[in-house]
Amino acid sequence: MKIERLALYNFRNLGPTELVPAAGLNLIVGPNAAGKSNLCEAVYYAAKGWLLKGERQRDVIAWGAHEAVLELTVNGDHVRIHLNGRARAKTIELNREKKTQSEVSALVRVVLFTPDELQIIKGRPEARRRFLDRSIAELSREYRYIVLEYEQTLQRKNALLRQGTPNPDVLEVFNEELIARGSRIITQRIEYLKTLNKTLSQHYRAIAGRASELTVTYETPLDLSSGDVRAQLARLIAQAAPQEIQRGMALVGPHRDDMRFDLDGHDLRRFGSQGEQKSALCAMLLAQLDLYYQRFGDYPILLLDDILSELDSRRFQRLLQLLPAGVQIFLAHTVTEISELHPAVRTAAQRIFLIEGGKVSVAL
Ligand SMILES: Nc1ncnc2c1ncn2[C@@H]1O[C@H](COP(=O)(O)OP(=O)(O)OP(=O)(O)O)[C@@H](O)[C@H]1O
Ligand SMILES: [Mg+2]
Repeated sequence: MKIERLALYNFRNLGPTELVPAAGLNLIVGPNAAGKSNLCEAVYYAAKGWLLKGERQRDVIAWGAHEAVLELTVNGDHVRIHLNGRARAKTIELNREKKTQSEVSALVRVVLFTPDELQIIKGRPEARRRFLDRSIAELSREYRYIVLEYEQTLQRKNALLRQGTPNPDVLEVFNEELIARGSRIITQRIEYLKTLNKTLSQHYRAIAGRASELTVTYETPLDLSSGDVRAQLARLIAQAAPQEIQRGMALVGPHRDDMRFDLDGHDLRRFGSQGEQKSALCAMLLAQLDLYYQRFGDYPILLLDDILSELDSRRFQRLLQLLPAGVQIFLAHTVTEISELHPAVRTAAQRIFLIEGGKVSVAL
């Protein structure tokens, strides 16, 4: 999957922009606040239709302007997105015909990695659950719907529990739904992590250049060795009933589970260095790319926003070499001058775009 042309008009701080990216590694370089992340976000937004930080759609229109346009040509197909700030309307076209976002999303597949992703390792369990769900949903549309349905039922159950004396019949109906969907979510999450674990250490070792064991484990009160996830979840939810009513919230289910990364047997969140945490994240990315390729027979477009900082030069050189050939990559990297670029990064790049004050120029 390749972007052959990208054009932007009034997208955040970026001036009128037209890019013809290379098929492989595209470097997006420039100083702080130049617009590098905005460029990555533009591609992400065009493909997914939503913004990572949950901002409003009109926030991406350049301040003072009333409309913005994004155009992507991907494998010969032409996607055009028009945002009208005044009408708060969005028009999506594919080859000049109106389409829905999901039709475009099925066609333009992207994976975005930003420094915020470190929260997967360092942050709260929500960040890990969101990452896990997003990653699995990337491979399975059905999973995304199950998660959505689970979350809707969960909200309704919590609203009921907050009333203090919930109607037991209604509670029962909600619980049945949560058990049915929750057990599928847990099963798929476990399955996904099991598959990731098959290659995770190998990728970590390749980046770190040393023999290490990186594993990711699903954390749940369920006994995973016993197998019957559905029956166990039903039992735990039944046991938790009095407590749930007392506290006014659902206390058992995939919305309370977590995952843990261990590097050579030590919890990476508590003991890992910044570089180790970042390397682990990059190993996750590589392992995910493997799964992606197995599922679709092609790689997604990779948007890597500032992932090289905190990696020492040996690690990032190895990472650049490890990214599979045939993936189109947009790698944003902060430098004030092109001359500051590490020679290895410069050599690996097929094209270098320099952004300064929202203006994009081709530097290589
Ligand atoms: N709707 C908007 N209109 C105009 N400018 C905006 C809008 N939204 C964000 N900006 C500005 O865009 C600028 C560039 O942001 P961006 O995150 O792309 O920088 P960056 O090049 O990634 O910098 P860094 O190296 O610090 O990560 C910021 O100064 C931000 O205030
Ligand atoms: Mg940035």
